[in-house]
Amino acid sequence: MTLTGAGKIAGVIGWPIVHSVSPTLHGYWLNEENVNGALVPLAVARENFARVIRALQLAGFRGVNVTLPHKEAAFALADQSDEAAKAAGAANLLIFHAEGHIEARNTDMVGLRESIREKLGDLKGSTVVLLGAGGAARGAILALNELGAARVHILNRHPDKAAILAKALKPMVASQLDVGDLADWPKVAGAADLLVNTTSAGMKGHSALALDLAGLKPSAAVLDIVYNPLETVLLKDAKARGHVAIDGLGMLMHQGVPSFEAFFGVRPKVTDGLRKHLEQSLDG
Ligand code: ATR
Repeated sequence: MTLTGAGKIAGVIGWPIVHSVSPTLHGYWLNEENVNGALVPLAVARENFARVIRALQLAGFRGVNVTLPHKEAAFALADQSDEAAKAAGAANLLIFHAEGHIEARNTDMVGLRESIREKLGDLKGSTVVLLGAGGAARGAILALNELGAARVHILNRHPDKAAILAKALKPMVASQLDVGDLADWPKVAGAADLLVNTTSAGMKGHSALALDLAGLKPSAAVLDIVYNPLETVLLKDAKARGHVAIDGLGMLMHQGVPSFEAFFGVRPKVTDGLRKHLEQSLDG
């Protein structure tokens, strides 16, 4: 898109950044919403992050989406943060305000929450089994809590990490949090209304989890936050067994909505057209 002098510019900052889908996502919306703007990918090493942020602010950027490995640093350098960023200790969106202050938000949690709500509605009274205990798990537990999940079993390869996470989140959530080892899966599978994978297993270049879905009840849904590949081994298995399968693209699209609105002043829509566009771009 050609920019006039009045074009609004934002960025997505990470290391590496070549695989980021954000420029495609925002590019689609810029076109759909007829906005004169651009979202540029910025490959920035960890040690240069803070200086680059200041420079982008001086250069008139509206803000940046933040991806690995800068999410914690983004939270740390902001002047103000929303509750989600505070709870996560990490931010995926920095907004540069005209008065000079930097606002940090975490929209990953909103993205996951809206992606689940779109497919399943709320989760009142549900039991969820959640795999993983990293940053993504933390945001996911907050989203499940907001959707009304009664109970979340957190299973992790290193169960001590699951216990630390549950202890940190207990004061913030109404959902009952239980912890265990990944090996405990067969014991809890039958109780699950929803299985959520937040581990990086199954991602391109990583081995998949060897998870037997035979114990899941037929009505249970399976969600994988991984979107590359879009159909992970876990989701393929789930579909073959007739479960509702939710891929990571829903979360990706929904987390972008507040960013686009903050950068470009228009609230964009998550549509089938957008999904198809991103699927094609991921295929390519
Ligand atoms: P993120 O912030 O994206 O959640 P992270 O903090 O590195 O990333 O967490 C990655 C999660 O995936 C962890 O729960 C990790 O398990 P450990 O805490 O036991 O290391 C989990 N994980 C990564 N690869 C895995 C694998 N092959 N099998 C099982 N769990 C895996």
